[in-house]
Amino acid sequence: MTECRICGGVVEEFLDLGRQPLSDAFPRPADVDAEFFYRLAVGRCVACTMVQLIEEVPRERMFHHDYPYYSSGSSVMREHFTRTALGFVETELGAADPFFVEIGCNDGVLLRTIAESGIRHLGFEPSTGVAEVARERGVRVRTDFFEESTAVAVREAEGPADVIFSANTICHIPYLDSLLRGVDALLSPGGVFVFEDPYLGDIVEKTSFDQIYDEHFYLFSVRSVQTMAERFGFELVDVERLPVHGGEVRYSLARAGARQPTPSVAQMLAQENAQGLAEPEVLQGFASSVSRIRDDLAGLLRSLRENGKTVVGYGATAKSATVTNFCGIGPDLVSYVCDSTPAKQHRLSPGAHIPVRPSEAFAASYPDYALLFAWNHAGEIMAKEEQFREAGGQWILYVPEVRVV
Ligand code: SAH
Ligand code: TYD
Ligand code: ZN
Repeated sequence: MTECRICGGVVEEFLDLGRQPLSDAFPRPADVDAEFFYRLAVGRCVACTMVQLIEEVPRERMFHHDYPYYSSGSSVMREHFTRTALGFVETELGAADPFFVEIGCNDGVLLRTIAESGIRHLGFEPSTGVAEVARERGVRVRTDFFEESTAVAVREAEGPADVIFSANTICHIPYLDSLLRGVDALLSPGGVFVFEDPYLGDIVEKTSFDQIYDEHFYLFSVRSVQTMAERFGFELVDVERLPVHGGEVRYSLARAGARQPTPSVAQMLAQENAQGLAEPEVLQGFASSVSRIRDDLAGLLRSLRENGKTVVGYGATAKSATVTNFCGIGPDLVSYVCDSTPAKQHRLSPGAHIPVRPSEAFAASYPDYALLFAWNHAGEIMAKEEQFREAGGQWILYVPEVRVV
């Protein structure tokens, strides 16, 4: 029996995605025998409804010097985080000598704007390679995991934080008890802890099962986050849906009683109840849809191969590790994946071992079809690659359904 990482309740498994590699570990051909695998399965806590992975991958295996995800690789995300940073400067950082802390600052995509605004700040980033890039952009980084002990150390040395922000990182952290005790130690009495992560509601609605992989330990809902917040002396005071990364929610937590919750919290809770989100039947339905998408996608790729069509992948995303390994998609069905990240190029995709090539390979010789693994960046990529369609190429999408456009 699996115990909930938040409340100790019973976690009921509802989806098994099988043996999976680390989603962000791109082996060299010589290193494929040393790949690490684990069982990717997901369940829901019967007590607090938190949706979480059944198996935990040790954090040092995922986040280290060679972590290859660079947040600044998308222009839409750069704009999103610039806007977010400027929003904080206007609304939360007006006092004398404010202090802004980010958990998982990566290459400084958000903190560079805070730094340029002259605001005292600190990013926690354990992956030293990406952290180094942030430093080159003028960002102050502590190359540590944020947890209780490191948060306490910063509180003692630098005083309380007015804002603690985190994007696409809190859901990566199984040890949220330690993290929230750290937030409690570091946050000023009237401060706010804001984080944004993929939303269970969007994942279920769009059957975006590729949001499930080693790093995404939790799939948050408003209800599960509210319950968790209260458990640690916080209150969920605002929620906002975001269009980025296929649908996220930005949660704002304050110390219990410190801020008046906005109406959107109750509205989203009512919506989740009406929808039955996190009800076992709804999650079972999601699991059935996942099997259907797998059969549709693998079926389409096989028939294209039989008809002699060429197919390449676009975007060597962490998400695509789940898709390729769960659906049995290897280099026989997708000849290579192009990606703009130098750290991923000339390597193999995790587990499925599809070669990763630079983006330029795509335009050099267009395939008949491009499977859009980076579907969350569809607008940006399709605009950039307009000539592909003009040349007769077609995109394959699998969220929310398998289709060719
Ligand atoms: N905020 C960025 C990066 C998301 S990727 C964005 O939204 O694009 C997740 C990042 O969290 C990685 O860079 C990883 O190294 C970092 N991370 C993982 N565990 C962490 C922890 N406990 N404390 C701080 N950062 C962490
Ligand atoms: P992303 O979907 O942001 O995250 P994850 O890896 O967590 O699933 O990853 C996007 C990947 O796609 C990243 O490796 C960079 C790549 N990419 C391109 O190759 N070209 C592009 O135009 C964009 C926006 C991304
Ligand atoms: Zn629980």
